[in-house]
Amino acid sequence: MTEITKKVDIAVSEILKGNVVALPTETVYGLGANGLNKNAVLKIYEVKKRPHFNPLILHIYSIDELKKYAKHIPDEVYKLAECFSPGPITFVLEKKSNIPDIITAGLDSVAIRFPSHKMFRRVLKESCVPIAAPSANMFGRISPVTARDVYKELKGKINYILDGDKCEVGIESTVISFLNDRIRILRPGFVTSKDIEMVIGRSLFENRKWNKENCKSKYSFIKGNKYLSPGMLKNHYAPNTPLYIVKDLNLLTKISKQDFYHIDLSKYKNLKSIASNLFKEFRKADEKKYDFITIQKVENTGLGIAINDRIEKASSGNIETISGKSNSYLI
Ligand code: TXA
Ligand code: MG
Repeated sequence: MTEITKKVDIAVSEILKGNVVALPTETVYGLGANGLNKNAVLKIYEVKKRPHFNPLILHIYSIDELKKYAKHIPDEVYKLAECFSPGPITFVLEKKSNIPDIITAGLDSVAIRFPSHKMFRRVLKESCVPIAAPSANMFGRISPVTARDVYKELKGKINYILDGDKCEVGIESTVISFLNDRIRILRPGFVTSKDIEMVIGRSLFENRKWNKENCKSKYSFIKGNKYLSPGMLKNHYAPNTPLYIVKDLNLLTKISKQDFYHIDLSKYKNLKSIASNLFKEFRKADEKKYDFITIQKVENTGLGIAINDRIEKASSGNIETISGKSNSYLI
């Protein structure tokens, strides 16, 4: 039986017992376990059916704890943390040996973030342990933004879901790597590259000068058999119904309305509110059980970059001709 609760002490007790529990963050709901307990972390992979090569984010209460788990921390991390943490930004840093390998999928680095959601922060403070947590969905599926969404994904698989209302940001944190003396955005999110550049006082692009060394690192995505940032997998955040990106809305008028559901993002007044409602829209569209879903991308600037990233991943590259109907439609 899975229970939705508002009681933080229940979540704390689940963490301390070595169980997994769903927790609200400001981005999306997470599936948390004691980050220092190998067996507890293992349960996260089992519940989500997440492949073991995909490392988890370690959530901590405050910047003071960063040194406990990461080494060679550049000043820029502190500058960025001062501006955006607690909040939707995750730092990939060299890890210390006290972090179980199961969290980092055997990598030498660890992804760390300080969530700002009040309930998550209380769980961190009261349990006094760092919490490993991926998004609380089955692997490859849409991240949940309400306790109900989590329930639909994980009912019967976990004991409790801590209900902290709808997640404000609505898409996952920006993941930023500081490895090898370079700053790279591995996953775009609410904190944009412009925001980051403003704080560090230089362009992230300078990191990408095209020389032989960087050319090599461009292809270092797969190092040995280990993914450097497996979150960059193409097929992710996907509804079960195929989702197509529409380039020209006029083409939709030629397809029978009974076949598809169009997600209309133009009803939201700005990018922030699109981000906040995107996964809700994916889930709603999926539940309608049409043959396919259509959506248009948004302007590709600022927060739009993260929104388009999620749309692309949800479409698994479905920008193509739909055939098999009376005609073929390029959408
Ligand atoms: O907003 C968020 O980040 C949410 C909430 C729950 O905190 N969490 C989340 O976790 O989105 P998850 O597991 O769904 O995504 C974590 C991403 C993955 O793309 C993973 O590959 C990447 O972070 N990651 C984790 N550790 C890494 C590392 N050491 N190096 C590179 N990428 C890493
Ligand atoms: Mg996820």
